[in-house]
Amino acid sequence: MPDRLSWGLGALQTLLAVSTVYAIDCTPESFSTIIESNPDATVNYAYAVPQNGSFGVPSLAFPTNATNLPALCAVGINVKSSANTSYNFGLFLPDTIWNERFLATGNGGYGGGINWPDMGIFSHYGFATMSTDTGHNASAISDGSWGLNNPETLIDWGYRAMHGSVALSKSIVTTYYSISEGIKYSYYASCSTGGRQGLRDVQLYPDDFDGISVGAPAWWSTHLASATLKQGLYNYPTGTPKYIDPSLFSTIKAEMTKQCDAQDGLVDGVVSDPFGCDFNYQELLCTSSNSTNCLTPVQLQTVYQSFNDWVDVNQTFVFPGLTLGTDPGFMLGGVSPLGYGYFQSWVYNDTTWDYTQFTYADVQKADEIDPGNATADAFDMTPYMDRGGKILMYHGTADSLIPTGSSKVFYNRVTETLAPHGVELDDFYRFFLVPGMQHCSTSDVAPWYVAGGSQQIEGITHSVPGYEDADHDIILALMKWVEGSTAPEKLIATKYVNDTFELGLESQRPICVYPKQPQYIGSGDVNAPDNWECKRIY
Ligand SMILES: *[C@@H]1O[C@H](CO)[C@@H](O)[C@H](O)[C@H]1NC(C)=O
Ligand SMILES: *[C@@H]1O[C@H](CO)[C@@H](O)[C@H](O)[C@H]1NC(C)=O
Ligand SMILES: *[C@@H]1O[C@H](CO)[C@@H](O)[C@H](O)[C@H]1NC(C)=O
Ligand SMILES: *[C@@H]1O[C@H](CO)[C@@H](O)[C@H](O)[C@H]1NC(C)=O
Ligand SMILES: *[C@@H]1O[C@H](CO)[C@@H](O)[C@H](O)[C@H]1NC(C)=O
Ligand SMILES: *[C@@H]1O[C@H](CO)[C@@H](O)[C@H](O)[C@H]1NC(C)=O
Ligand SMILES: *[C@@H]1O[C@H](CO)[C@@H](O)[C@H](O)[C@H]1NC(C)=O
Ligand SMILES: *[C@@H]1O[C@H](CO)[C@@H](O)[C@H](O)[C@H]1NC(C)=O
Ligand SMILES: *[C@@H]1O[C@H](CO)[C@@H](O)[C@H](O)[C@H]1NC(C)=O
Repeated sequence: MPDRLSWGLGALQTLLAVSTVYAIDCTPESFSTIIESNPDATVNYAYAVPQNGSFGVPSLAFPTNATNLPALCAVGINVKSSANTSYNFGLFLPDTIWNERFLATGNGGYGGGINWPDMGIFSHYGFATMSTDTGHNASAISDGSWGLNNPETLIDWGYRAMHGSVALSKSIVTTYYSISEGIKYSYYASCSTGGRQGLRDVQLYPDDFDGISVGAPAWWSTHLASATLKQGLYNYPTGTPKYIDPSLFSTIKAEMTKQCDAQDGLVDGVVSDPFGCDFNYQELLCTSSNSTNCLTPVQLQTVYQSFNDWVDVNQTFVFPGLTLGTDPGFMLGGVSPLGYGYFQSWVYNDTTWDYTQFTYADVQKADEIDPGNATADAFDMTPYMDRGGKILMYHGTADSLIPTGSSKVFYNRVTETLAPHGVELDDFYRFFLVPGMQHCSTSDVAPWYVAGGSQQIEGITHSVPGYEDADHDIILALMKWVEGSTAPEKLIATKYVNDTFELGLESQRPICVYPKQPQYIGSGDVNAPDNWECKRIY
């Protein structure tokens, strides 16, 4: 093994491929032997999947198989977590391309299921990959009723299933590949609830991972659920004077884009810094000369509430509003089960609890209980930093599910906790705003793809074809930082035509380490990343 690696994926695979003389076969019996010292664990299944094969065990959260897989062994394990609860996890153990590394991935919303698709993507790099169902079977946008009077499963979802699955996976991987010196490096990559899981895990168990890539983390469970409910109630009930019909949402977004777009040096429909825009809400008002696609003063108040910080009794900051340029559809388009379900099933244990009477006292109750101990608010991340752990965090600026500002709050709170002790955050934790990206992936116009968790692109197995390097691929950037000590100063995001690989490359543009933002240099091809720079504007 050479000391210095060239950080191209092809090079990595060539250099790191090990001769595969495994200690055991890919059979349930073999894995039963490996885990026999753990009385809480049992093997559900083990199947050898051939090159280009497909595998999955459908759940409500992940109904589809991972496809086009490298040859690997797929294993399912069940772990008892209390007298009457358990969780499952799946492992993909690549055959010839194993890179001597481990990577775990996470979940979305209140969903429960093994994330086979992301495990499949990351197995192509050569990682042994793992995902847990967190102890239940439910879709991401669900009302959380699985957690009703079920505190143990809530704890599994909150943090226990992830840590337990990581710990057991590491011992399985070590034995399966028969490596005396252990796994070289362990990583984590996921988005949304998956982002929360990664942060929560390294806060509680700093040794689990050497590096984590977390997108749009749902870290502030209690306040995020509160804000989701509050936002839904801003535009409730239907038909009242303050109510805005969903047909007007695109008008609101378009006006914001119009006013905030030029700040990055180019009018292209991408708002690079929504936080730096001084938006004039009154432009949305109906006037005597314009009475179509416009709002009344009372409706304007609804928009104002939705896009500004929620501050409640005693001037208490509760949660940031949506960012300018975001389609408010998820928040204002109906009261979401992610908001009211949290309170009914997890806080009050009463599915008849009337969410229309929601007040700040309910937020305080949620904070007091913190269902599942899920909130990732242990801002003193010194233990993770001290053991050399690295964090690459990113958040789209047009996220209507988890307001982008919540990642800024997290970043600022970690700064407030560590900076007074002389810590330079950039030394272990870098945060990127992804202009124009929606929740975890996708944009109409802006380059957003960096091969992160839940960023599948039609036609791509993994990474950024043709650009399989640490400048374009966040997983390779994380590895380069952890293993080669070079931190990314920026990443280059990619957009394909209609987000489909076969239709060809549309544009590439840097995303920048916060608080820098991309700025067009004023000349040259706007779709070429070299014509953009990362700059601190204010
Ligand atoms: C892989 O499998 C898919 C679906 O089964 C098939 O369409 C494709 O041709 C296969 N590719 C290779 C390289 O074998
Ligand atoms: C998904 O994978 C399972 C397990 O390998 C297999 O039995 C099933 O046929 C696959 N489903 C599809 C749609 O390919
Ligand atoms: C999850 O529930 C669905 C619907 O009941 C069922 O079809 C599926 O098999 C379940 N998946 C698992 C892994 O239990
Ligand atoms: C497990 O047992 C506890 C304590 O008896 C109970 O509160 C909980 O509802 C049970 N959970 C399930 C999933 O049966
Ligand atoms: C609801 O039940 C959970 C345990 O599942 C408990 O922690 C919480 O305190 C209960 N809520 C109330 C309001 O009693
Ligand atoms: C009327 O105002 C809306 C909202 O700002 C705007 O989208 C629309 O273009 C305006 N129409 C005209 C004719 O000015
Ligand atoms: C607001 O502040 C007052 C005066 O300090 C205090 O008595 C009250 O409990 C506070 N209310 C809340 C909801 O924290
Ligand atoms: C919740 O997490 C905190 C650390 O953030 C820990 O001190 C506490 O013991 C945990 N509680 C439970 C019930 O796991
Ligand atoms: C891209 O998608 C749009 C909208 O679905 C469609 O009208 C257009 O034809 C597509 N472009 C290509 C090149 O397929």
